[in-house]
Amino acid sequence: MSDIKEQNPIVCTCNEISQQEIEQAIRDKGLKTIEEVGDETTAGTVCGGCVDEIYLLLEKINGKVDL
Ligand code: FES
Repeated sequence: MSDIKEQNPIVCTCNEISQQEIEQAIRDKGLKTIEEVGDETTAGTVCGGCVDEIYLLLEKINGKVDL
């Protein structure tokens, strides 16, 4: 079980949103911006400290990020 957790780190500690949740939302809903990820998952909407990581996940999945 700990393996699974290590592969699915919490990206947004404020709202306890995991990397997998964010990646899945991006893929399933075709999210393009940090704002859309925030609307969909609430990640990045509190302190903003995880926004850089969300950016990297968007870039990883979409190849680029619209700001
Ligand atoms: S860590 Fe994501 S909003 Fe604070």
